[in-house]
Formats: sequence, C-alpha cells, structure tokens
Amino acid sequence: MDLKQMNRLFKPQSIAVVGASNQVGKIGHTVVKNLLESQYDGKIYPINPKDAEVQGLKAYKSVLEVPEDIDSAVITVPASLVEQVVEECGKKGVGGLIIITSGFSEVGNRDLENRIVEIARRYGTRIQGPNIVGTMSNSNKMNASFGPFLPFPGKATLISQSGALLLAIDASTYTRGIGFDKLISIGNMSDIDFADCIDWLNEDEDTTCITLYIEGFKDGRKFIESSRVAKKPIIALKSGVSAHGAAAAASHTGSLAGAAKVYGAAFQQSGVVQASDLDNLFNRTLALSLQPPMKGDNLLIITNGGGVGVLATDAAEHSGMPLRFAPPELQTELKKHMPEFGSAKNPVDLTGMAGLEWYYDSIRYSFTHPWVDGICVLYCETAMTDPMEIARGVKQALDESGVKDKPIAVSMVGGERCTKAMRWLVDNGIPSYGAPDTAVNGMAALREYYRMQAMLKEPLETRREFDHEAAIKIIEHARADGRDSLTEIEAKQVFSVYGLNVTATHLATTEEEAVQLSTKIGYPVVMKIVSPDILHKSDAGGVKVNIKDEAAVRDAFRTIMTNAKAYRADARIHGIAIQEMAPWGTEVILGSVNDPTFGPTMMFGLGGIFVEVLKDVTFRVAPVSCGQAERMLGEIRGAPILMGVRGEKPRDRQALAETICAYSTMILDLADEISESDANPVLVYEEGKGVKVVDARIILKKK
Ligand code: COA
Repeated sequence: MDLKQMNRLFKPQSIAVVGASNQVGKIGHTVVKNLLESQYDGKIYPINPKDAEVQGLKAYKSVLEVPEDIDSAVITVPASLVEQVVEECGKKGVGGLIIITSGFSEVGNRDLENRIVEIARRYGTRIQGPNIVGTMSNSNKMNASFGPFLPFPGKATLISQSGALLLAIDASTYTRGIGFDKLISIGNMSDIDFADCIDWLNEDEDTTCITLYIEGFKDGRKFIESSRVAKKPIIALKSGVSAHGAAAAASHTGSLAGAAKVYGAAFQQSGVVQASDLDNLFNRTLALSLQPPMKGDNLLIITNGGGVGVLATDAAEHSGMPLRFAPPELQTELKKHMPEFGSAKNPVDLTGMAGLEWYYDSIRYSFTHPWVDGICVLYCETAMTDPMEIARGVKQALDESGVKDKPIAVSMVGGERCTKAMRWLVDNGIPSYGAPDTAVNGMAALREYYRMQAMLKEPLETRREFDHEAAIKIIEHARADGRDSLTEIEAKQVFSVYGLNVTATHLATTEEEAVQLSTKIGYPVVMKIVSPDILHKSDAGGVKVNIKDEAAVRDAFRTIMTNAKAYRADARIHGIAIQEMAPWGTEVILGSVNDPTFGPTMMFGLGGIFVEVLKDVTFRVAPVSCGQAERMLGEIRGAPILMGVRGEKPRDRQALAETICAYSTMILDLADEISESDANPVLVYEEGKGVKVVDARIILKKK
C-alpha cells in the first residue's frame, strides 16, 4: 500500500475542489460549503474556470495555477471533463482524487474509467471512486462530500460501496447515537477498494472498528488477505446475496454455491464479523467499536426483570452462546445483593426491587470473577430508580473493578429517561441498546470476533506431496480428445494424485477385459458406462451394482452397452468402468467451484437427501486447513450424524477433514484447469477406518 498517498487522500492538509461553484444547488457548491461549515483545518482551493472567488475563497482556473502543494482534490465536474482534470492533478502532484462524478463503469462507460485510472497510475495518484459521495472525517474536521454533515462522532469508520446508503447512515448516526470517525464512499472502486481502505485504517489511530457495506468485490482474495491481518475488528454487511450466477452451474456444487454461502465463508476465513441487516450492522458496530473482544463463552446477565432476562437468554442461545449457570461461589456472593426471592443462577435476577447499590455490587464483583467472560446488564425502568443513576453506577462499578479486558453491554427498557441514560453510557464507552436481545447480539459479535481471531492464528499450510505434472497430463489428454470434462476414471486418477482415497476403478473395453478386471479387483464389483456424452449414468441405465460373478459381469456388460446406445445413439463410448464395490458408509459430498470473486472454493455436506433437498452444505475458499475442515464438519445441520447416532459408532471425522484439506489443495493447484468438481458420494467409515471416494466428476475450464 502506498501509505503516503493514502494519507494525503484521507487526511489531507490541503484540498482542491475542482468544479467549485457559487451556484447554490450544485454539488461543487455543496462540497465547498461543507468544507467551510465542518471547519476543515487545512487549506481549501476552489477551482473554477470563470469565477475569481468561490464562497469567499480565492479561486483558481486550474490546479496547475495553485502555488502550494495539494494533497487531495474533490472532483465535481461532468464525466466528459474528468480525464483532463485527472491529467492536470497528476501533473500537479496531487496525492489522491475524490471523484464524485457519475457516468463511468456503473453505466457501462468502462473505457473512460480505465483511462482515468491509467492516467492516475502514471502519476502515482490514487483514486477514490468515481461515482461517490465523498469522505467525511470527524478527526480531520473534513466534510469533503455532498452529505449534509459530519456523522455523530465516534470511533468506527464506515466504508460504503453505496453512496446513497452512506448518506442515509450519516443522518441516522445522530438518531441512533452510534458514532463514526469517518464515512468513506468508494463507489466504483476503480482504484482504491475495500482492501486498500482496510490496510490504511489498520494504521489509523482514530478508528477502532471498521464497518463495511459491501455490494461485491472485484478481487475477493485481496480482501481476504487484508482482513486476515487487520488489527481491528471488521464488521460487514453484504447485500445482493440472492442471485450469484449459480444458475449456469454444471456440477452439483456449482448449483449450491450462492453468494451468501461463499461470502459468508470468506468472511469467516478472514475474521470478519457479519451483520444480518442494517440495524444489526449498527448495533454490532457499536459493541465492536467500544468494547474489547469476549474471550470465553461465559456471559453473565444481570437484570431487574425476569421477562427481559428470558428474552436475553433466548437471544444468547440463538447467537451460539447458550447461558450457563454461574458457579456456586459466584452465586453465593451474588445472593447477598438481592432479596430472598431473587435468582443468582444466570440470568442473575436482582428483582424489581433492585436499586443502584445492588446493581453496583453485583456488577463490580462479577466483573472481577474469573468465570465471567462478559456481562450484559439489563434494566427495566421502575418508579423506584433513576435510569441515569443506574447508568452512572454501571460505569462506576466497571471503573472500580479495574478490569479492562472483558466486555459489557447494557439494555435499558423504558422511556425518555432510559434513552438519555443510554446515550450517556455510549458517550462513556459502554454500548447500550433499547432491547435486551440486541444487547446480547452485540456481545455475541465481540465473542465471534475473538473466536475468529483465535482461528486466524492456526497455521494455514495445507500443501502436501503431489505430482502436478501427472495431473496436468491426464487433463491435457482429455483436452486433446476435445473434451471439457474428465471421465470418472480420469477424475479419480486426478483425485489420487492429490492423495484422495478413491475406489479402485479400471476401464474395460471388451467383455473379456471386464471379466479379467473384475477377478483382479475381487467380487462384488460395480460396472458403469464411461462416456463423455453421458453425464447422468444411472438415468441412461449405465450403472449396475453388486455384480457377484463372471456370468453376471458378462450380462451387465452387454446390458449397459445396449442401454447406452439406446439412450444416445451417437454417444462416444470409452468402455465400462469396473469398480470395487465399497462397503456401506455415511454418504457425504465434497465439491468445488471456481467462484467469480474468490476463485477455487470448497463445499462439504452430507449426501443423499441432505444435499438434494435440505441443501445442508458449507463452503470455504481454498486453501482449507485441516482445522478449518474440521470446523466445516461441525457447521452443517446434520453434523451429529457424523458423531454417531442411533447406536452407530462415530465416523472417521479426521480422515474426512484431511480429505477436504487435500481436495482444497487440488483445486488450488489446478485452479487454471478445473472449473467445477464433485466427489459424490464419498463414504465415511467408522473412526480409524477412513473414507472412500466412490464417484468423481471434474469439469474443465474452457480454454
Ligand atoms: N475545472 C474546474 N471547474 C470546471 C471545469 C474545469 N475544467 N469545467 C467546468 N467547471 C465548472 C463549471 O463551470 C461549474 O461551475 P459554475 O457553477 O461556476 O459554472 C462546475 O464546474 C460544475 O460543472 P457543471 O457543468 O455545472 O456540472 P454540474 O454541477 O451540473 O454536474 C456533477 C457535475 C459531477 C455533479 C455531475 O456530472 C454528476 O456526476 N452528478 C452525479 C453525482 C453523484 O450522484 N455521485 C454519486 C453519488 S452515489
């Protein structure tokens, strides 16, 4: 990252506004007005070809006429003039351009966008946009945008691909009381993208949490790389997850790889906390920007109302943090700060009689207790207590506990007085929410963040010994044959190169050969048609299983050949695969797609109806470490089946995780060759007995 130019763009000492105007209603007028009103502490240079002065400031005809250096230039001239302006800014040595102008790739004008990037790169100038609202920065007192005002001050920074959404968020930061230091609009991302912003914000001392509104990445892997090493929490809301080009998929995996799943996987792998909607983005940002991560699962809820306690308990369960009973000695201590009929289990119900003192004592004691990893304080407004007094008590208990590495969140349910008290809490660094479940969800974000950070410390290395050339030879042979998919036998050969345990499978071109191979493999065997023109072998009557002797082999050979020809008279038939009949095991499916954003991506799920009907699958962007593969096994709804149900022994999860890991190595190593692939079914045996790939499919990239 070019730190110097990015600094000049995001924290400029001087700004030119190209297209600055005296005409009220023009964006070039609003930007100058905004810079003045926000009391920007650097120099402002309006650029206008006609006027000598703009809004009381001396104006220049071009940036080239400005006698001093210019760090950043906001561009508000029509698209047809931008190329020339970028050239002039480059010549002038401007560090970064905030190009507000629309009319580029978003309307198909890709060439113009490419040209301005090419000019800027020639001069080492960075581009934010085009097609953006601009940048707002509280720490720089800089409203270099056409948004109405700087956001409610705080420590998060928002990067938004949508300008309109950024404007909506700007205004609502005040009503919600959620503070941001900067709002950065990145629009078409012609040059600077999310990853560049994350790299820069990583070093920005005014930002403690990075909030993203994402419509789509150009380079998903660049985003993963930047996020993985980020030192601050990143929270993302991804929109447009419903349609993702899955329709044209040729494999099973391809049809299941929707954007929601693949983006979700990428966020997990890069330690990015996800938000489910805009409200959730705000609420989670509040917690992540103000509180430390939650290092363990022990959330303690302290409340004065049973009902809100139950709502919070439900929310904790829903967020993957089911409440546990507080240990006996903690309960004994807490019992001292509540009436007889209170409960110290968890939620700790101080009852409606709770006043400041009980809240203070129980929070202060619990916070220092080693069992407690985080506290959620709930309060229902009563006539006996003053919410502001309770708020101050919470803060005092925290400060006096001396604990700084455990998080807290508060929910106050009530009226105006509660709203005021919560605003005070937020101003004092304690995230506060009007609903108990929202407060718990904020804590869950802090827990998720910690969990993912711990996961990122695991080694990512997955590469093993394999013979790349051998795999390429098989693929080239298929291509030379004019095919863009491998036969089952070829696909299994490629899988074997990467260490996957496939069923022994050989090609028989004659009945005699079929008999010889069956004897060699050992009965019973499976026989399957091998034809590049018959992908759905069973539908074509091309599969016979459990063939027990020579006579049955001969019979099956003839029947399969007849069926195949009847199914498709012109099908190219390579022969019949003779395959060992693998003993029964739990069926799972592994597969891969070449995601347009993230490249080679792995899928895992249980086979049969689990994948066909329930679509119970999970994804990871390759490479997938064995640790991540194990996590994938636990993510699907059918996970308990692998643990052994109804008296069955647990399945060999370790062998399965290693297979996923090896599979991911294969799709990464052959990223230029493989478009989609499936291993379906893969049979998983009892612990210690491994797995076996029974059927395999590889579809090649078109070259
Ligand atoms: N250098 C500097 N200023 C120049 C110039 C140049 N080479 N050429 C013209 N200008 C001046 C114009 O004279 C005018 O100033 P004036 O009001 O004093 O005459 C000013 O630049 C603006 O030009 P104008 O032609 O009036 O454009 P405009 O204000 O109608 O529209 C944009 C310009 C950029 C706002 C418009 O093209 C646009 O893209 N709008 C959409 C912006 C948007 O929504 N962005 C994304 C949000 S998500």
